[in-house]
Amino acid sequence: MKIYVPMDSAAKALGADEVAEAIRAEAAARGIDVTLVRTGTRGMIWLEPLVEIDRGAGREAFGPVGADDVSALLDGTLEGHGPVEGIPFFARQTRLTFARCGVIDPLSLADYQAHGGLAGLRRALAMTAPEIVGEVTNSGLRGRGGAGFPTGIKWKTVLEAEAPQKYIVCNADEGDSGTFADRMIMEGDPFTLIEGMAIAGLAVGATRGYVYLRSEYPDAIAVMNDAIRIARQKGVLGARILGSDRIFDMEVRVGAGAYVCGEETSLLNSLEGKRGVVRAKPPLPALEGFLGRPTVVNNVISLATVPVIFERGANHYADFGMGRSRGTVTLQIAGNVARGGLFETAFGISLGEIVNDLAGGTRSGRPVKAVQVGGPLGAYIPVSNFDAPLGYEELDAKGGLLGHAGLVVFDDSADMLRMARFAMEFCAIESCGKCTPCRVGSVRGVETIDRIARGDADAIPLLTDLCETMTDGSLCALGGFTSFPVMSALTHFPDDFATQKEAAE
Ligand code: NAI
Ligand code: SF4
Repeated sequence: MKIYVPMDSAAKALGADEVAEAIRAEAAARGIDVTLVRTGTRGMIWLEPLVEIDRGAGREAFGPVGADDVSALLDGTLEGHGPVEGIPFFARQTRLTFARCGVIDPLSLADYQAHGGLAGLRRALAMTAPEIVGEVTNSGLRGRGGAGFPTGIKWKTVLEAEAPQKYIVCNADEGDSGTFADRMIMEGDPFTLIEGMAIAGLAVGATRGYVYLRSEYPDAIAVMNDAIRIARQKGVLGARILGSDRIFDMEVRVGAGAYVCGEETSLLNSLEGKRGVVRAKPPLPALEGFLGRPTVVNNVISLATVPVIFERGANHYADFGMGRSRGTVTLQIAGNVARGGLFETAFGISLGEIVNDLAGGTRSGRPVKAVQVGGPLGAYIPVSNFDAPLGYEELDAKGGLLGHAGLVVFDDSADMLRMARFAMEFCAIESCGKCTPCRVGSVRGVETIDRIARGDADAIPLLTDLCETMTDGSLCALGGFTSFPVMSALTHFPDDFATQKEAAE
């Protein structure tokens, strides 16, 4: 019998290691032959630790499983969910990027290849660099870190830049609140990121890559380091990748924990050992990036999606989605929800379907008030806009931004004035200090919201004015996008601002 227990850090936080240990001990005590496989997570966090058992007729899921349940689990008397693929939250997904996550042993290259791994890299090795770039362009893939810039155009810029050395830098500084897709894929399917980076290297002529990984992710750091070592040993990385005459190698560099280091130029400074301060653009990193050389800086999910594009073809990927948002979006559903986790689906699904249907509404059982999409710099979207389909342009039209596709849900007890204050305070704390609208504006913003809370009506137009200045005058998205949560709170939930005012009067 084979038993699969996740080693993903969310599952571990919920007791997966204790369950694995209890299974080992109980199997030994009973003298039964159990092969224990540690996997990534299937992404249904409310069911973690989710254990799967294969007694010869396919995998059957159980969860949440505690160490106390192990005896019944092995007896066959514990009630299960049937195959994972039949659980509605899972059955409704289109898993392309996350197809292997939770299925395979993350550090088994053989398992990876048995599930389609390295087919994309093999195909890319037979293509010219412009053909590889063309394939990515045709897939319609856009930067999954937040900005949605077409990946193919970015790669073309780097390919056409002349330089003796070019680099691939993976932005794994996943700092947005409510996001965990980068961590999940690195812990659950690290070879896919390695393969994606190697293909990017072939595309632009880069022989060296770095994964800039946040120190808050110790499990992901360990898994990525092990996977890179294995890939090097097995000839996937190094001087002759997959036996070809092409070179690509990479390593993990650990960030020290500043939100602004998720901004690409700040990240590059940090990677070079300097203080993580934002650089002015131009020059673009694509032309003058790491150590002043042409550099592809892409988010984890963008790079981890590249292998499936090459395995199945650009058209297969582009067939999913809507408008200019092609392929799948990896939604991370968090906050006050009954069912939270990762949901990969074609672009176009509505917020209402996600929050009310898939996530099952709030965990508190109270009515939903708003969902913040796109991290701490994302807008608060009211229920009246829940018909908005998820797509870069479609969300933009509703005054929101998709960002890294993290969704944090709030019930009707949320005080939106306090949430607006939190956004300004967050900006004040995380500002790199380089430009005045952000460095000073965020501090003044907190003070202005406090004035509104004390009932000063004159402070409301001042806050609007300040947000405009921060949007127009800030050098990067941290200062520039803080107005999204603040202004969306003020616009959609004026009562929360008025109530405070009236109470003070
Ligand atoms: P941006 O719009 O300035 O740039 C997007 C990307 O395209 C950059 O990599 C830029 O260098 C590149 N680019 C632009 N023109 C190019 C050209 N002609 N050739 C080649 N490359 C070109 O956006 P930015 O400031 O990099 O990112 C802002 C986004 O980051 C926001 O949408 C925000 O949601 C997101 N974000 C994500 C976080 C996370 O944890 N994933 C944290 C904070 C913000
Ligand atoms: Fe730094 Fe803020 Fe200016 Fe960005 S907007 S460069 S974080 S001071």
